[in-house]
Amino acid sequence: MQTKNYTRITATAIIFGVGLILSIILAKRYTKPIEEVVQAAKSVALGNLDHDIRTERRDEIGDLAKSFNYMVGKLKEERVLEERLRKAEHLAGIGQFSMSIAHEIRNPLNFISLSIDHIRKKYEPSDEGEKEHFNSLILNIKNEIQRVSQFAQSFLEHSRPFELNLKKMDAERLIEEVLELVRVKAEKDNIAIIKELEMVPEIYLDPGFIKTCLYNIILNSFQSMPDGGKVTIRTWVADENLSISVQDTGQGISAEKLSKVFDPFYTTKNGGLGLGLALTKRIVEEHRGRLEVKSIEGKGSSVTIFLPVNKGK
Ligand SMILES: Nc1ncnc2c1ncn2[C@@H]1O[C@H](COP(=O)(O)OP(=O)(O)OP(=O)(O)O)[C@@H](O)[C@H]1O
Ligand SMILES: [Mg+2]
Repeated sequence: MQTKNYTRITATAIIFGVGLILSIILAKRYTKPIEEVVQAAKSVALGNLDHDIRTERRDEIGDLAKSFNYMVGKLKEERVLEERLRKAEHLAGIGQFSMSIAHEIRNPLNFISLSIDHIRKKYEPSDEGEKEHFNSLILNIKNEIQRVSQFAQSFLEHSRPFELNLKKMDAERLIEEVLELVRVKAEKDNIAIIKELEMVPEIYLDPGFIKTCLYNIILNSFQSMPDGGKVTIRTWVADENLSISVQDTGQGISAEKLSKVFDPFYTTKNGGLGLGLALTKRIVEEHRGRLEVKSIEGKGSSVTIFLPVNKGK
């Protein structure tokens, strides 16, 4: 009787033990992976779409993990599409805004141009030396008015800003023309302009637009040196690209801000629009070129335009 009882207890203990081991194995095999899926779902619900469940299983839990990963993948795609849509809407808004600016700019420019003609006729100095200087200043003003006016016109006509009018041009001449415009400001702001221009080939570019780019970049350099400094302009050719760089000894840009300088309407200036570099980048890219900004905070910045030498036309 006692032996029977003993056998029964042992059998019960063995069954209980096997049961326990089985439930541990089952828990490990099924409960834990399900828990993982639950955790992943919670993390996705909090907005983290980088959660991927890794499993080699081919059973229902494997299927569940695969479906989960598929769902997260679709959510990721949707998020990218949403972001693109948001950007497109933003740009469409900028487009409309810019159209109205272009419209408002074009009309007064015609009036200014006529007034300049009047001033030229009425106030031309009689002294030969002074006359030459006077006429060259007037010509610069007229050229600039025409450039901005054409820009606004092309904007309004094509409802896209960059209808390029390519011409074979000498970069040095273009740089000289821009420097002519900024020389007076450089003197006033105590800024030395240094030119290190290599002999570079003529390339196809839109002179008006590239002048706008150089002007924007040089003006930024001036604005970064309120107490004066040095701007060095270099040209060279490498890897089938003509490069024009403008380096300054100004405040520089922190690494964090550097990633934003091409964003439309990003500005750190009182009264800045934050459009100079965004516009410059667009124009350079329309020329199938590239714009690069390098900077060390507190030391200065250099902005380089790379334009393809052969692919302009
Ligand atoms: N040479 C530079 N040195 C220091 N910061 C610069 C330089 N060039 C650009 N930046 C930074 O990049 C920002 C964006 O420049 P961007 O030319 O696009 O706009 P902005 O000069 O602020 O306004 P605007 O539309 O009048 O040009 C500037 O506000 C400035 O913070
Ligand atoms: Mg600017």
